[in-house]
Amino acid sequence: MIQAEFGIVGLRELATPEGKGPRTGNELGRLRIVEDAAVAISGGRFVFVGTRDEYRAKVRLADGGRELDAGGGTALPAFVDAHTHLPFAGWRETEFDERLRGATYSEIAARGGGILSTVARTREASLEQLSRNVRERLDAMAALGTGIVEAKSGYGLTPDDELKQLEAIRQGAEGHPVEIVPTFLGAHTVPMELRENRERYLLQVIREMLPRVEASGLAEYADVFVDEHAFKLDEARMVLESALERGLGVRVHADQLADDGGARLAAELGAASADHLEYASDAGIEAMARAGTCGVLLPAASFFLRCDVMPPGRKLADAGVPVVVASDFNPGTCPSESVATAIWFACLNGGLGVDEAITAATLNAAHSLGRAADAGSIEVGKRGDLVIHDMPNRYHLVYRFGVSRIGTVVLGGQVVQSQGTAWPV
Ligand code: NIG
Ligand code: FE
Repeated sequence: MIQAEFGIVGLRELATPEGKGPRTGNELGRLRIVEDAAVAISGGRFVFVGTRDEYRAKVRLADGGRELDAGGGTALPAFVDAHTHLPFAGWRETEFDERLRGATYSEIAARGGGILSTVARTREASLEQLSRNVRERLDAMAALGTGIVEAKSGYGLTPDDELKQLEAIRQGAEGHPVEIVPTFLGAHTVPMELRENRERYLLQVIREMLPRVEASGLAEYADVFVDEHAFKLDEARMVLESALERGLGVRVHADQLADDGGARLAAELGAASADHLEYASDAGIEAMARAGTCGVLLPAASFFLRCDVMPPGRKLADAGVPVVVASDFNPGTCPSESVATAIWFACLNGGLGVDEAITAATLNAAHSLGRAADAGSIEVGKRGDLVIHDMPNRYHLVYRFGVSRIGTVVLGGQVVQSQGTAWPV
């Protein structure tokens, strides 16, 4: 018999990708589907995944163990959000309103708004305030079904302020059921005070910030925004090569507003991911497929920016790139923490099928963060992270868009959110 502390039965459907690495091509949408399913968890990990009948035959609950009846809902792995800008202060709702009436993101950035207005607010905020923001946002993300979150700095743009953001990530996440993966994004844009002296800022990132980031152990990855208004390709290469030498993994904001060659650079450097990619060239996408660089779609951000091209979901999938779907949560281009929302747009605007998008937002996302051996799917041995959606099968996740049907969220084998809303049988 399998001993367990926690059992979940009454799942009309359980749908999960399987494996410890990324799924690509025809495998992207290959899920294990179990009808009338049950799972068992012990020591925070899955010890059984199968049908209710098998569960009854094989699993014994330990003394004091609990069993939850999911009431006919659907279990999916908890989402893994592989791209967010979590530690910031202040929102940008008035810029949003300007954009609705025709102003562009680039115009607002060029006059010192956009990222720089969040930089000003974030510099003013105390470490305590920022870590409170991080914690509150992690609470919101857990309630939306997310179990692992990547979080970038990039709104400090001085050595002290970047470190303050990374420290806020660490403090805000301490003891929280959502795991956080921190990324240093000092090369997000050139700060206002050094706009006329960009080489100086670049040297500051490479010679002052990266050594401090390395010494503090506060980041696993470094990221650079490659863009006309941020960093050019050769500048990005310098920062990313230096980060690699210091033992950090690298990720790239690539080809978001134009084809800047970011995808190709990411592939060349063996980056964990190239993100956005709306304007990525075919050659850049092919290079990513060859290098195994994950392509992180941020389709809620494209939608929110009213981007004139659609997210290249189908293109990346057909090219054999390990596709990831993430939120891009930030105050400028995606003020929504919801991965489910990103999935709707990945399907409706990006051309992914529902099963493909589920893999992209779970197992593939976990792989892009170096967590696929431990998380991203509902499999024996992996971390007990799953979400019970109040719907009869996985298709309703996208089909009934616009509404969250998240019922119960289980992270590390603990129920962290329970709305008790069972799907009517
Ligand atoms: O991923 N592209 C650059 N960075 C963010 C936006 C940050 C902001 O507008 O504050 C993004 O879209
Ligand atoms: Fe981003």
